Amino acid sequence: MRFVFFTDVHLLEREDSVKGFELCIESMLSHEPEVLINGGDLGVPEGATQTYKEMIARIGLPVHMVNGNHEICNGSLDPERAGEFSNSFDHAGVHFVMLDLVRAFEPTEEHPWNWYFTADEKNLKWLEEDLAGLDADVPIILTSHVPLSTSFPQRMGQVPGMEFPVNEATNAKEVLEMLSRFRNVATLHGHDHENSRHRWRHIQILTTGAVAGNWWRNGLDSPNQFGEPQGYRVIDVDSRSGEITNRYHAFQPHQDIEIAPATREGRRFVNVIDGGSAAVVHVEGVGRLSALDPWGQENKRLSTHYYELPEECPPEMDVEVEFEDGRTVEASLLFEDSD
Ligand SMILES: [Fe+2]
Repeated sequence: MRFVFFTDVHLLEREDSVKGFELCIESMLSHEPEVLINGGDLGVPEGATQTYKEMIARIGLPVHMVNGNHEICNGSLDPERAGEFSNSFDHAGVHFVMLDLVRAFEPTEEHPWNWYFTADEKNLKWLEEDLAGLDADVPIILTSHVPLSTSFPQRMGQVPGMEFPVNEATNAKEVLEMLSRFRNVATLHGHDHENSRHRWRHIQILTTGAVAGNWWRNGLDSPNQFGEPQGYRVIDVDSRSGEITNRYHAFQPHQDIEIAPATREGRRFVNVIDGGSAAVVHVEGVGRLSALDPWGQENKRLSTHYYELPEECPPEMDVEVEFEDGRTVEASLLFEDSD
């Protein structure tokens, strides 16, 4: 069974967002998915939600969506009712959970956002009841706007563990604990406008770059913050084994890259757009590169899909990457002068 996850469309926020989302829909449908899942954040401007609904109505496939923080900002989600929209459904033997974590917040000087994320007691109880009685062999796909396991606050210079977090969710561990009795589980998230994949125990945590990239700042050429193309994730669930495999795709050919050079403050990295701790990155003449330690103080403002090169390294190199699903990709990289 194949489905597609896309997130953070941010319609009407800048030029070309509607044209871009049209291209994205066409590209997503070319993979012949049975279901589409949207991770939230439709866009703040008036009309964004309506425009989205009209565009989605033409698709002719089920499209499920979880609320993002922008659904509070744009007024389409009644702040009083935030958190009441968790739901689940079954499709082709897979159990899908849409977990509604965003809540309204009265902004203060310390907390200028009008939202935060939590899996509160009500969410946890609902989830416990929803999962009760399901066999451990049933593949589980859980979607929430904000990632349930993430180094993003740390990497972006925030203090992890905020009382009212804006880049993580309170009680996220309790959610993951509940999911961990299932053999095949993946969680899908947006919000961060980056690709970041790792495992929490055996659970695949798949944070996915935005359709809007860097909020359409440069129209149809607005890659995400760590070079990820504007794109979406195609996910396959094996009907016999329940195994979950997936891959990130660009929706425009000119952004379709999987491996690129990256330089930050004199440091050089192989940027594997949808890499993660399980990807094997090998550089000819240098050897295997390690994934970046996302909790390292020296790695702030960097990506979990950067693989650091040693200082003494020629500017031209051949790279081979073996992704988690066994697929291999080769590339020749040329580093221009560092920034
Ligand atoms: Fe968001």
